[in-house]
Amino acid sequence: MTHNLIKIAPSILAADFGRLADQVAQAQEAGADLIHIDVMDGRFVPNITMGPAIVEAVAKVAAIPLDVHLMIVEPEKFARRFADSGADSISVHVEACPHLHRVLEQIEAVGCRAGVALNPHTPAATLGDVLDNIELINVMTVNPGFGGQTFIKGMISKLRKLRAMVDNSGKDIEIEVDGGINIDTIAAVIAAGATIAIAGAGVFQHERGIAAGIDALRQRAARTTDYGAV
Ligand code: DX5
Ligand code: ZN
Repeated sequence: MTHNLIKIAPSILAADFGRLADQVAQAQEAGADLIHIDVMDGRFVPNITMGPAIVEAVAKVAAIPLDVHLMIVEPEKFARRFADSGADSISVHVEACPHLHRVLEQIEAVGCRAGVALNPHTPAATLGDVLDNIELINVMTVNPGFGGQTFIKGMISKLRKLRAMVDNSGKDIEIEVDGGINIDTIAAVIAAGATIAIAGAGVFQHERGIAAGIDALRQRAARTTDYGAV
């Protein structure tokens, strides 16, 4: 099954932080479906970004859901805090959670949609026994830690496997792709089964502005007969 009506989730990692509220408002105005917020701790990934205070600031201007991607160790310590800050969904990395099932229950308990993110080397099958506990899968299509990296083509086959797993389960689980999504890669990820395209540089650093970045992705996504390979 392919999903032509893909949702676009701009990642504010690539935004101008000095004008964050204005940039989020522009993305929303241009039809963004969610806002993706990348939280990094300098331990799970080699970069430090933002925390609950930024989620709170974004929540003040965004009516669309906030999709919080935790690239941190011991994410269970912060589920409540991010929920209170305005997160709608919280994704944790399977590689950071020896007790993944417990963490997913904790996210649900604080009222958020629970998601799991997979590093590029982590196989699709690792999620086979937690499909009852997730509403979202984030397929990392770069190594987490930085925006503006190049899409890893090998992730297409993992995406197809996850699509098949989700379809076979009959569950309503969204599949996100995260990293290097632009007009050259979006068609292939839709064809492989993604339902949410996260894009940082492709939106916030588009040469003609945020709205043009979102439009360009949508237009490429709409050309359903012309997926091509990446
Ligand atoms: C990377 C982050 C991504 C990042 C994507 O660790 O999880 O969400 O913002 O940025 P682009 O679209 O620029 O690759
Ligand atoms: Zn992310």
